[in-house]
Amino acid sequence: MKKILKIAGIILGVVVLIILCFVSYVQIDGIPKYETKKIDLKVEVTPERVAQGFKIATMECIACHAGSDGKLSGRELTELPKEFGKVFSRNLTSDPEKGIANWTDGELYYLLRTGVKRDGQYLPVYMAKFPNAADEDLYSVIAWLRSDKIEKTNEEPPESEPSFLTKFLSHVAWKPLPYTEKPIQLPDTNNAVEHGKYLANTIIHCFPCHSGDFKTLNMLEPEKSGGFYGGGNKMPGLNGDLVTTRNLTFDETGIANFTEEEFIQSVRYGKKKGGGQLRMPMFPHTLLTDTECKHIYAYLKTVPKIQHKIEY
Ligand code: HEC
Ligand code: HEC
Repeated sequence: MKKILKIAGIILGVVVLIILCFVSYVQIDGIPKYETKKIDLKVEVTPERVAQGFKIATMECIACHAGSDGKLSGRELTELPKEFGKVFSRNLTSDPEKGIANWTDGELYYLLRTGVKRDGQYLPVYMAKFPNAADEDLYSVIAWLRSDKIEKTNEEPPESEPSFLTKFLSHVAWKPLPYTEKPIQLPDTNNAVEHGKYLANTIIHCFPCHSGDFKTLNMLEPEKSGGFYGGGNKMPGLNGDLVTTRNLTFDETGIANFTEEEFIQSVRYGKKKGGGQLRMPMFPHTLLTDTECKHIYAYLKTVPKIQHKIEY
């Protein structure tokens, strides 16, 4: 008996030691780095691309990257759950020192697809990624970044201080997204469901906020995200109070009783069904057209219903 206890004690000791070693390794190593791929790309800056890039960026980049001066100088993402640590976005202007003037188009493209920066640093869940976006839409974002529409500034916040949880998840769960050489075409905008799905899951990203939790997101295969479109993700609002995202499936506890018009009013203008304004971070998506909202509505109808009553 004594011997068994002794062996059990040794095993327990070894397990504790291994865990401690892993914890210190993760703490010191931080967020892992990966090899990058050199992409030979030079995006032609056309007015059409700049306009489309601006539209995408208004819904996908500016909110996170605009500083208090209104320029794309970067800021602290205070709306992120505190458990991720202190997270600061970066300067996206053409400033040679603080901005992205020295990045090649290929490096920007690779980051947007995979989440890996040109120095190999992986950016976790708090930086948007576009593994399945159409090539042309990403060229548009890059054309906009290169255009003269962005005012230069050499302001930039300090580096992020990710929490242990962020570092840990970046070791065990979150990985760079795969890079595909295959061209990805724009969706057929006459097919409401296909187009709505592309907007909501691939380019405008409604599902990350509207699924169960940021920690269980699947950016490559959004449908596999925990609680896909069932809402319940809690995020700090403007006053620091927690705002819970709503269930966007067509269940009775979701938006089954929303008319198309009520849906458009919520999405484009932040108008709450029955009166009042939706709270941040549900910002109005005014640049989406009514047709685009109708297509998202048509797509959400096809998403498996989740029964999940959100208290607010
Ligand atoms: C949810 C917030 C969020 C969104 C949306 C977002 N970003 Fe970021 N981005 C970040 C954060 C945070 C970082 C820095 C993370 C770090 O260094 O820890 C970052 C880093 C970057 C970098 C690296 C810059 C550098 O100098 O290291 C680039 C380039 C970038 N983002 C471009 C974009 C573009 C283009 C878009 C829109 C298509 C976008 N981001 C959307 C939060 C966001
Ligand atoms: C940054 C996170 C975030 C993103 C991105 C986001 N939402 Fe929301 N959304 C919220 C939050 C939080 C609420 C609840 C606000 C409140 O309770 O006042 C909400 C509310 C809604 C509502 C109201 C539902 C109801 O029951 O009243 C609709 C509709 C909606 N969002 C649709 C969308 C669509 C469509 C997209 C993509 C184009 C989107 N949201 C993107 C966070 C987000």
